[in-house]
Amino acid sequence: MIVIPGPSSPELGKKVAEGLSTRVVPVDHRLFPDGESYIRLRGWVKDEEVIIVQTTSPPQDSHLLQLFLMARTAKDYGAERVVAVVPYLAYARQDKRFLEGEALSIDVVIRLIEASGVDALLTLDVHSQTILERFRIPTKSLSAIPLVAEYLRSRGFEGAFSLSPDKGALDLARMGGGILGGGYDSLEKVRDRSTGEVRTAEKALPVEGRDVIVFDDMISTGGTMALAVGLAKRNGARRVVAACTHPLLLGRAVERILGAGAEEIVGTDSVPGPRSPVSVAPLLVDALRGWSP
Ligand code: R5P
Repeated sequence: MIVIPGPSSPELGKKVAEGLSTRVVPVDHRLFPDGESYIRLRGWVKDEEVIIVQTTSPPQDSHLLQLFLMARTAKDYGAERVVAVVPYLAYARQDKRFLEGEALSIDVVIRLIEASGVDALLTLDVHSQTILERFRIPTKSLSAIPLVAEYLRSRGFEGAFSLSPDKGALDLARMGGGILGGGYDSLEKVRDRSTGEVRTAEKALPVEGRDVIVFDDMISTGGTMALAVGLAKRNGARRVVAACTHPLLLGRAVERILGAGAEEIVGTDSVPGPRSPVSVAPLLVDALRGWSP
């Protein structure tokens, strides 16, 4: 087994290789002047099981293309099997045609991943589990929320109330609540498909004077999280932490969430950055060890 840490996840890829005690095949990557990606594998992959660690956070399209180039090149050079570890799977939110004529983007991405030579895919907190059923190759999605909750527990948040910003993420609040104690619940979010505008229904929560952790799979523009944080504060919460697996944190997201009253924002290195103190490497290593897709 060998690990290729892709251009979007160099540190995480190295940690996964260390955890698996396997050889690393480095990859050279640069952009041509016109913006096209150049990829060169710098090691032997013949007859090996190749693990490519490549998240597809922004710039999604480039990161996806790099994944395709690495997978196909590994196969061209005789890799026995290619397992793609894609902690954040881009385009998963476009899993339906919400409006007539829209592209079913995730289905196209799935077909492209398969066509590039990927034999199995491991991801984290995928937007919806039903997406995995559309792959023809073996797949697995794990949750990093327990790791995030453990991190917060070790930082003094034991007993905090766990909250999800919408019903679809209730399982995340349940997982967080299982580790932090202190109960859990979800809010109700409504998104206008044409304008993208999001609203959260007011709700009474048992959080007066207590700490609250809002758990979501991802934070993109921060709109959803800011609404949930604001509602927890209006219910009298003491400290509120915005927690997620994939901290994309685009544009003014950090400002919006902190402005709504959050103490801090905690994510994982699924999307590396200054708000990603939790590493998902141990979770990926365990999953890869026990998985023979
Ligand atoms: C949506 O269902 C997801 O779970 C997130 O709540 C959403 O994608 C976050 O997006 P934003 O940060 O732009 O509100």
